[in-house]
Amino acid sequence: MRVISAEFFGGAVDERGWPKDGRPQIAFAGRSNVGKSSLINSLVGRKGLVKTSGTPGKTREINFFIVNDLFYFVDLPGFGFARVPGKVQEGWGPMIEKYLLESREMRLVVFLLDIRHEPGKNDLVMNGWLRHHGLPIAYVATKADKISRGSRAGHIKVISDSLGADADDIIQYSSTTGEGKDDLWKRISTIGGNR
Ligand code: GTP
Ligand code: MG
Repeated sequence: MRVISAEFFGGAVDERGWPKDGRPQIAFAGRSNVGKSSLINSLVGRKGLVKTSGTPGKTREINFFIVNDLFYFVDLPGFGFARVPGKVQEGWGPMIEKYLLESREMRLVVFLLDIRHEPGKNDLVMNGWLRHHGLPIAYVATKADKISRGSRAGHIKVISDSLGADADDIIQYSSTTGEGKDDLWKRISTIGGNR
């Protein structure tokens, strides 16, 4: 995909902030610090479009970015935050769930997992929830540059077994090197019609 334009559209704390113009929306979900914002930047080839940080829980609103005037990328707050006040954290689950279930234009959940680690409890809960609701999922194993090529298959097997997914359906990705970009764009281009 040739990205001509990518712009911040807005941040939403509730339904009033969701774009509702018929353009498809592709959401990026995963635990805090897994690399959601970095992946969006790397996909669109704009380093500073989405703020990234070493501090987990940086992204607190649902942030919408419009790409090529054609569709939206949706940066969801990370789940499983360690360092934020409990009260704020409580509000994030329902906000994300409502968006994923009710936005008519939400077409694909790109689910990010760190290639180095076995999926955690929050990952499994999220995976079960997405499947229970029959949402279309694209699995992406992030930070692939951090492990050797030789150990990749073993890590992917641990992740696919744990999620009950096909190992071949997990896209290996590195926002640092751009590995996996073409595969993920291909997957994104297969999205279906509005619900
Ligand atoms: P929250 O907004 O807190 O939910 O985090 P996030 O999932 O958006 O993660 P973010 O993109 O901010 O990245 C977290 C950290 O991981 C940053 O220090 C990034 O530089 C680093 N990182 C992200 N992707 C990669 C990658 O592919 N390779 C390497 N080596 N580092 C990465
Ligand atoms: Mg982020």
